[in-house]
Amino acid sequence: MAPLTIALSKGRILDETLPLLAAAGIVPADNPDTSRKLILATNRPGVALVIVRATDVPTYVQYGAADAGVAGKDVLLEHGGEGLYQPLDLGLGRCRLVVAARRSYDWSGTIQRGARIRVATKYVKTAREHFAAKGMHVDLIKLYGSMELAPLVGLADCIVDLVDTGNTLRANDLEPRELIMNISSRLVVNKAAMKMKHEAIAALLTQFEQTLAKR
Ligand code: ATP
Ligand code: PRP
Repeated sequence: MAPLTIALSKGRILDETLPLLAAAGIVPADNPDTSRKLILATNRPGVALVIVRATDVPTYVQYGAADAGVAGKDVLLEHGGEGLYQPLDLGLGRCRLVVAARRSYDWSGTIQRGARIRVATKYVKTAREHFAAKGMHVDLIKLYGSMELAPLVGLADCIVDLVDTGNTLRANDLEPRELIMNISSRLVVNKAAMKMKHEAIAALLTQFEQTLAKR
């Protein structure tokens, strides 16, 4: 079968995807948690994993540097999805993308007044579209992490970020004010690879689907 390169990010995506790959008979040759290698061979000749930042997975797949990958819907929305198919929702990394503000912040008053607000987020594109659809005027401040800090130190009125248990928001005196969307991770496939390596990709898809159906 054609060689296959799969892009994954360390942390949640890798942890949750490895069991799916194992069920499909694909096991990395080195331990991804301890190895510093960025290309990991697997027990299946021709199948390799490449380890990239979560936000870079769609880029590697778009340009065909990886044939397939696993990325959160949050990341895919920001990327835009050009050059990619998203054939399968893996249901991994489930969380919500929300607007959150301090408990004391008068959110409904702000909306009623039509006030201009400052929003800190790493999801600038998605946040812009969300507030534009509501007709709200916002100034977006791009951050790369620890978004929850921004309203506490006066950098922003609210944030757009991911919430799972809600522990991080609670620990920082914040609460969700609007749900933007539910998030989960998807298998993404390079459009050309879907044609050129159809047999290998179709086999992977079927194996993933069968494993997910048993869960
Ligand atoms: P990087 O560190 O490279 O900037 P990251 O911190 O976003 O990336 P992860 O925290 O591993 O990387 O998140 C990867 C994906 O997992 C996210 O894009 C999102 O889809 C999902 N995710 C993030 N946080 C949570 C969470 N708290 N619960 C469930 N899923 C999450
Ligand atoms: C994510 C997200 C929130 C937190 C939400 O951060 O950016 O901060 O999880 O999860 P909770 O509702 O269960 O508390 P992550 O743990 O990935 O840290 P990082 O983005 O700083 O790497």
